[in-house]
Amino acid sequence: MASKLWEKNVTVDHDVETYTVGRDREMDLYLAPFDILGSMAHITMLESIGLLSAQELQTLLNELRAIYEIAERGEFVIEEGIEDVHSQVELMLTRRLGDVGKKIHSGRSRNDQVLVDLKLFIRSRIEDLTNAMTRLFNALIAQSEKYKNILLPGYTHLQVAMPSSFGLWFGAYAESLADDLTIMRAAYEITNRNPLGSAAGYGSSFPLNREMTTRLLGFGSMDYNVVYAQMGRGKTERIVAQAMASVAATVSKLAFDACMFNSQNFGFIKLPDEFTTGSSIMPHKKNPDVFELTRAKCNKLQALPYEITLITNNLPSGYFRDLQLIKENFLPAFDQLIEVLDMVTAMVSQVKVNEHILDDSRYDLMFSVEKVNQMAKDGVPFRDAYKQVGLAIERGEFVSEKAVNHTHEGSIGNLCNDKITALYEQTLAQFGFHEYHNAFDALLGRV
Ligand code: ARG
Repeated sequence: MASKLWEKNVTVDHDVETYTVGRDREMDLYLAPFDILGSMAHITMLESIGLLSAQELQTLLNELRAIYEIAERGEFVIEEGIEDVHSQVELMLTRRLGDVGKKIHSGRSRNDQVLVDLKLFIRSRIEDLTNAMTRLFNALIAQSEKYKNILLPGYTHLQVAMPSSFGLWFGAYAESLADDLTIMRAAYEITNRNPLGSAAGYGSSFPLNREMTTRLLGFGSMDYNVVYAQMGRGKTERIVAQAMASVAATVSKLAFDACMFNSQNFGFIKLPDEFTTGSSIMPHKKNPDVFELTRAKCNKLQALPYEITLITNNLPSGYFRDLQLIKENFLPAFDQLIEVLDMVTAMVSQVKVNEHILDDSRYDLMFSVEKVNQMAKDGVPFRDAYKQVGLAIERGEFVSEKAVNHTHEGSIGNLCNDKITALYEQTLAQFGFHEYHNAFDALLGRV
C-alpha cells in the first residue's frame, strides 16, 4: 500500500520504514489536536490568498472540526501503515472529501507543520504545568503561615546552626517556585512565536500571509526568519525543558528535606500513615517512598535538557530527522512533572509537623548567636560577646532562652509571604493564556 505522502514509484523497504517511523505513531497522538488547529489556520490563510475557494475552505474547515472533536474525545488514531499525524489528518480529509483534501498542503511542509504542532502543544502544556505549580505554591504558603511560629533547627554543613522555622522552610520552596515561574514565563515567550510559513525551512514562493496565521493561532508574534524558525526545532524544546528542570530541582530538594526530616533521627515531620509504605521484612517500617520516587523522577526530568542538547548539539542549520527523537522523552515529560507536583502538593498539605522539636537539648546551642546578638545590642562589642559566649559553651555553662526575635525582611518573624505571593501572581498574569484560548475558540467556531 502506497501510504506515504511522499511515495511515488518505489516502495520503501519494510524494515527501513519501521526504523524511520519509530515511535511517531504513538508520539504524534500528543500533537493531533494541535495539528488540526494548525491546518485550520493554514487553510484559512490559503483561501485569503486565492489558493482555495471560499466553498472549499468551508468544506475543509467543517471536516477538520469534526476530526478535532474525534481528537478531543480521545478517539483519534494513527492507522497501521500511516507514518505520522500529518499524514493521518490528510488521509482522513481526502477519504471524506476527495481531491479538495489534497489541496491543503500548498505552501507548507511537514517540517513547519510539526514545528507549529509542537509550539501549540507546549503552550497548552505550560498552562497545565503552571496550574499545578500554583496548587503547590498555594499549599506551601498556607503551611508557612500556619506554622510560622514553630521553630526547627537550621543547618550548615548538616551541623546544627541557627534557629529556623517551618514558616521559613515551607515559604522558601514557595519563593523558589516563584523564580521557577519566571523562567517558565521566558520559555513560554519563546514558544509563543509562530513558525508556520517557514515550510521546509526556507519559506515559499506562494505569497503566504504569516501575520494572518500568527493571529489565527493566537501567537504573540512570529519566528520571522524562516531559517531561524526551523532552527527553533530542538531549541524551543530545550529551553522549555530547562524551565521544567528548574521546577524539578526545587521539588527534588524539598523531597530530600522531607525524607531527612521524616527520619527518626530528625523527627521534624511525619507523613500520615496512608502516605507511607511498609517493608516486607521489618514490621515497624513506614517509609517515605513517595518523596524518594519524587526525588528520582525530578532527577530524571533534570536530565531532559541535556538529552535534547546532545541530540541537537552538532547539527547544522536546516531540518534533520534526528529532531524526531526529541519527542519521545519531551512530550510525556509534562504529565510526569504535573503528576509529581500534584503528589507533592498532597504531601505538603497533609504533613504533620513536630511542634516540640526544641525540647530536645541537643538543639540548645543553636541559640548561641541570639545570645551574642543580645549582648552586642546591650553594648558589648560583637567579637567580645562572641568570645564570652564561646567560652561559656566550652565550660558547659551556656544556657539558652530558646526564643528568637528576628524582624527583618524574610526572617522568622517577618516572612514576607505577601510579597512572595505578589511576585508569583504578577508573573502568572503575564502569560496571558486567554489569548490562545480565544484564538482557538474562534478557529473552532465556538464563539
Ligand atoms: N516525524 C517527523 C518529525 O518529527 C515529521 C517531519 C518529517 N519531515 C521530513 N522531512 N522527513 O520530525
